[in-house]
Amino acid sequence: MFITVEGIEGVGKSTNLAFIRSCLEAQGREVVMTREPGGTALGEEIREILLAHRHDGMAADAELLLMFAARAEHISRVITPALKRGAAVLCDRFTDATYAYQGGGRGIEARRIAVLEDWVQGTLRPDLTLLLDVSVETGLRRAGQRDVADRFEKEQQAFFERVRACYLQRAAREPGRFRIIDAARPLAEVQARIAGVLAQYGERRCDE
Ligand code: TMP
Repeated sequence: MFITVEGIEGVGKSTNLAFIRSCLEAQGREVVMTREPGGTALGEEIREILLAHRHDGMAADAELLLMFAARAEHISRVITPALKRGAAVLCDRFTDATYAYQGGGRGIEARRIAVLEDWVQGTLRPDLTLLLDVSVETGLRRAGQRDVADRFEKEQQAFFERVRACYLQRAAREPGRFRIIDAARPLAEVQARIAGVLAQYGERRCDE
């Protein structure tokens, strides 16, 4: 089972990822929790390059290709081996983030991203994607409380409006895979909704 968690900055991914992990473990699954860009030694080095301000103004195609370079390593070293041995893989962002940020945000055509998706992933796609959704205003207000903004976090509101719109469009197009979670609700409600979604994939709810 391959689960991804997506959303703009400030939606509460970290807190909810920890909750999802505990839900899956309560279902008796081995859970491999990982993230993109990153998740391997090479991927974490690429992540550092992608987020660093010394590369402000990086060409959009360079950014796109670095995302997929990190992803290729991640799939071959972490994701595929874990899925093969029957573990659940819980990934903080995956290719939907590329469509949203490099596609929606930076303006790269979706069909060009799709070429790389097919090349790097073959038939690998998430089974379930939880889209944590809040308004851009709320997300940026929450994210603004962090100390240092990275190369993406320092983008303007209009960029994140495009990112969010792209996520929502993708969710509307693939309702079987996506679940949209209203992450502006109080945490207890958000987690009850997540537990409900995960219960469809396990034998019992983890919050009972
Ligand atoms: P994180 O802060 O959620 O860990 O993600 C790092 C940043 O990378 C985040 O601002 C979104 C961005 N990103 C992309 O632009 N494209 C991608 O494909 C991925 C996985 C992340």
